Amino acid sequence: MLDGDCRNSMHGEMKAPPDTPPESRGSALDVMRECTLQAACLSWGRVRSSRRTVGRNIQSSARPTDPTVNKLGSSDGIARVEYLLHHRHMKQMHKTRNSLPQATRARVEVILNQSLADLNDLYSQTKQAHWNVRGPHFYSLHKLFDDLADSVEAHIDPLAERIVALGGVANGTVRQAAARSALTEFPTERGEGLAYVTALVERFAQCGAAARKGIEDTAAIGDADTADMLTGLSQDLDKSLWMLEAHTKP
Ligand SMILES: [Fe+2]
Repeated sequence: MLDGDCRNSMHGEMKAPPDTPPESRGSALDVMRECTLQAACLSWGRVRSSRRTVGRNIQSSARPTDPTVNKLGSSDGIARVEYLLHHRHMKQMHKTRNSLPQATRARVEVILNQSLADLNDLYSQTKQAHWNVRGPHFYSLHKLFDDLADSVEAHIDPLAERIVALGGVANGTVRQAAARSALTEFPTERGEGLAYVTALVERFAQCGAAARKGIEDTAAIGDADTADMLTGLSQDLDKSLWMLEAHTKP
């Protein structure tokens, strides 16, 4: 699964963490559905060019006696690859005494790493607007954009640390944000203040919707603490959106 698919899967239906192993939950398609989210996000940096190529590599390195893999028929190649990717992800997590199930923590890691990429991107785009805005309302917009960037930045560090606290790895570099963010690039042409406001409205609204979806998803899989963290983010994004939309015509 490629990057775009992965981002889309973030907004798909989330299920409660399975309390039975995949092999006892029915068909290969069921296994594939359960593992798709984790597999997709594991594959961000590694399954870019060819799913089949990666699949061959992973299957060749898999334990040949894995019972679930052996139950999947030769026509279940995708399910096989995604199951193995999912378990590779689980193995790579840090050990922790955190009482949340590992499957839950693995899913939350995926959700929060997407939020981390989006927020790093949103922060840099808001600073871009802060630096380059011109026009008759220059100073008020220059100041507003800086305040909004600060508001976004305040959530980045706690969010990244939550990922690591759950046993995951925070993917927080500029390059990782650029590769994984769901936001489109900020317009590079010169514009008056209102054009910058409009561009930021679109992006803050997008991040706000993703945060709300993240609240639903993390609550549904039993991580109330992350849902609470995302609720704070959602509230601040909604407030920022209001500040921006107040500059536009009703
Ligand atoms: Fe500044």
